[in-house]
Amino acid sequence: MGKDELHEVSVAPIPPPLLPMEKHFSTADDTSACHLFTSAVFSLIKLTITVVLLLLIVITVLFFAFHPKELQAYVEDAALSQFDLDGNLLRYNLTLAIAVRNPNNKLGVYYDSVEARALYDGSRFGFAVLPIFFQEEESTAIIKPDFNGFGSLTGDSVAATYESEKERGFYTIEVVFHARIRVKAGALKMRVKKQVDCRVKLPVAAGGGESPAAAVAPVFLQRTECDVSYTWFLF
Ligand SMILES: *[C@@H]1O[C@H](CO)[C@@H](O)[C@H](O)[C@H]1NC(C)=O
Repeated sequence: MGKDELHEVSVAPIPPPLLPMEKHFSTADDTSACHLFTSAVFSLIKLTITVVLLLLIVITVLFFAFHPKELQAYVEDAALSQFDLDGNLLRYNLTLAIAVRNPNNKLGVYYDSVEARALYDGSRFGFAVLPIFFQEEESTAIIKPDFNGFGSLTGDSVAATYESEKERGFYTIEVVFHARIRVKAGALKMRVKKQVDCRVKLPVAAGGGESPAAAVAPVFLQRTECDVSYTWFLF
């Protein structure tokens, strides 16, 4: 008797917790699981819409608070003291001064990397890495890439373009800048990729480009605006 009682006492409490659990699982199989899933999807959609709306509101508020204006770039000065094509080998010496204007009165700009490529007739001949800097609100920075050396130009039309431009008295050179920048709005920083495309027409140096620099002193005549394009990254 004593053994049986002990046995019953230790076994009896075990079934009750098991039964309700089984019941719970068996009733929750079809319809309520489906309801649970649907309501989870709905609350996820609601959450997404709320987040998107909040983000839009934040962007709108920031836009009106900081009133961002596009950066502007101008070729202020340029000198081509050598530009001789021999076969497909180009000897060049090109110096430029590009003014980059930050017209914003509430936004500073970090230039985290700036690279410049010089192209003739679509063919790249020069590459320069420029110093990084921070640009204050409403200020103008002058960047001065220079390209000099020699290299071969690829492209079928290069020789023909060179000859005809030499006859007309100028060379059309394109300088493309790629920059990674961060726009600073108070404590906020936003990443941007920027491309600046400057096209300059530079006079043929007297004497086929082999003249001393003095003979080609005033070479650049017009201030040229560059095309600025952006890719924004929200952070
Ligand atoms: C390139 O031209 C500039 C003037 O435009 C001159 O000061 C510089 O010495 C030249 N560089 C070379 C390597 O000839």
